Amino acid sequence: MKLLVTGGAGFIGSAFVRLLLNSADSPRVVNLDKLTYAGNLENLEAVAAKPNYRFVHGDICDAALVDAVLSEEKPDVMVHFAAESHVDRSIFSPSASFETNLRGTFTLLEAARAHQVPRLVHISTDEVYGSLEAPLEADETFPLNPSSPYSASKAGSDLLARSYFTTYKLPVVITRASNNYGPYQFPEKLLPLMISNALEGRPLPVYGDGQQVRDWLYVDDHCGAIRAVMEKGREGEIYNIGGSRSLPNLEVVRKILAATGGSEDLIRYVVDRPGHDRRYALSSAKLMRETGWAPQTTFEEGLAHTIDWYRGNREWVERVKSGEYRNYYARNYDNRDRELRKTGTATRPVPEN
Ligand code: NAD
Ligand code: TYD
Repeated sequence: MKLLVTGGAGFIGSAFVRLLLNSADSPRVVNLDKLTYAGNLENLEAVAAKPNYRFVHGDICDAALVDAVLSEEKPDVMVHFAAESHVDRSIFSPSASFETNLRGTFTLLEAARAHQVPRLVHISTDEVYGSLEAPLEADETFPLNPSSPYSASKAGSDLLARSYFTTYKLPVVITRASNNYGPYQFPEKLLPLMISNALEGRPLPVYGDGQQVRDWLYVDDHCGAIRAVMEKGREGEIYNIGGSRSLPNLEVVRKILAATGGSEDLIRYVVDRPGHDRRYALSSAKLMRETGWAPQTTFEEGLAHTIDWYRGNREWVERVKSGEYRNYYARNYDNRDRELRKTGTATRPVPEN
């Protein structure tokens, strides 16, 4: 068995590559990754020397490169993680989301069609459903109603992947997962940002009133679900993957402070994200029924393990927080703080140029 993974140096992709390469019947894994700010080969140090692993440094928008990799490797399965994955960055710089999430996915789909790849797992997100009023939970038939450039580009790529099944019978399976957390997550997303700031005694910036709700999925549970879909999912089908644990952001932040011993004085309410989705909620009943998968990690267990990891890997955190991260942090947060102090109302973030 041979797999081509895209975006395998990122947070979820690297957890998936580690899971596969550490399993008893480990397949050959080829990892195609551009190594953007979010890609980090340190995430794969534990498995990089395995003889059945190959890293290819490149862009999924590069059709000639993708074609060459498929010709050489002839994978049985492609698992497509590569994306610009952060909502706030997509608000500052929507073009990167468009390029990678739409054009990149299109390039891969065309190559998979030309090479008749036997299976393509497209990693989508629950954000494609948009914000849902309680007590609604999206199943896979819910309409797509994305709000941000990130989620709109993911909804577009999700529909494009589906169209290649409908039109060309390309054997595509789509997953839509909820918010992931765990070790090696780039500290721009809620949990790693709050955990690393709490451990450093820095302010924890809560957008708006902090009552936005997300469903939390431990990354290893997510990877187990992707493997189940890869092995048992039906072609042309979509599978939601949720952690069955909905929490308002403020409650998450308070749990982090309680677990790290930080004071609640560190909480800073800052200007809200424009177009901020209030609530995500999804049902994973179809995946559970068809594959027997269920999340194994409670939020409290997963959070404790994640905090331990960030505590024990401060050098990793320091390295990823240097350089480009500082510019991003200043651009995203300085303005939010200043505007809130000045007006007390929500404003827009400052655009890139
Ligand atoms: P990430 O930002 O940590 O990693 C993305 C990876 O893709 C990086 O290694 C990066 O270098 C690579 N990449 C980016 N552009 C590329 C390009 N043009 N060509 C090749 N490689 C490129 O992302 P993540 O959090 O691991 O998310 C992985 C996937 O899961 C994404 O498709 C995302 O939309 C989806 N997803 C994420 C979450 C979450 O909570 N993080 C939830 C649901 C779905
Ligand atoms: P995030 O991790 O960016 O994931 P997503 O927007 O894709 O769900 O954000 C999770 C929630 O946390 C979201 O409601 C925005 C909020 N949030 C903050 O309040 N402060 C922050 O600094 C960040 C990064 C997110």
